Amino acid sequence: MKVLFIGDIVGEIGRNAVESYLPRLKRKYDVDVVIANGENAAAGRGITKRIYQDLLMMGVDIITMGNHTWDQKEIFDFIDDAEYLIRPANFSEEAPGKGMVSVTKGGQTISVINLHGRVFLPPHDDPFAKAVELVEEAKKLSPLVFVDFHAETTSEKIALGWHLDGKASAVVGTHTHVQTADARIFPGGTAFISDVGMTGPYDEVLGMKKESVIYRFKTNMPVRFEVPKQGREVLSGFFVDLDDKTGKAKSFERIYINADYPFVP
Ligand code: FE2
Repeated sequence: MKVLFIGDIVGEIGRNAVESYLPRLKRKYDVDVVIANGENAAAGRGITKRIYQDLLMMGVDIITMGNHTWDQKEIFDFIDDAEYLIRPANFSEEAPGKGMVSVTKGGQTISVINLHGRVFLPPHDDPFAKAVELVEEAKKLSPLVFVDFHAETTSEKIALGWHLDGKASAVVGTHTHVQTADARIFPGGTAFISDVGMTGPYDEVLGMKKESVIYRFKTNMPVRFEVPKQGREVLSGFFVDLDDKTGKAKSFERIYINADYPFVP
């Protein structure tokens, strides 16, 4: 199974980048399943029902979330009915929604798990224990298991990657909005990258208008961060080809498209 993961979609520029590049990426990599992190899709904060539906229409199969899961109040009205939307599985047992979903494409089933880091982020349940518990559950269905670990530090993400080596097919990091150059396949067959990076405004700071961010750094004064509506885009992604029988990764490719690294069909 060939899986494409799209890194944190930020605002309208990010959604437009998915719309324009996803069909070409699907053709180029002969993609079976598309997973995308959508926790910043609504103007940088959370996701709305309309945006969730739009992303599915664009060809995304599963949407993962993170620390901004609850930022749009309407999420509470639709998350329990949103079959292909998952939020971190190590949130409270009482949180609405779910942390894992399975889809079948071309006769093959893959399970996708979303987890949340605990370093420099709120103290959720242990993602390491939750990961193993859910991977074991997923493997009853199929050996193909994909994990999005939404976390701040490379160390926590690399540690989870090693922890799941030979158990999950792929572990990718999200949240920092900066793609790392450490993509690899661990000895047990688990594909890994510390952070896939962002899909959104290219000429800002992590997708937020740079003037406000610079002002905050200079003055330490409170300022509202906003996502611009216009400007150049970046699309960050991670492609992985999985062995359907063993669930192990066979090959991978980092995807980074912007004005300085144009798309090559
Ligand atoms: Fe995040």
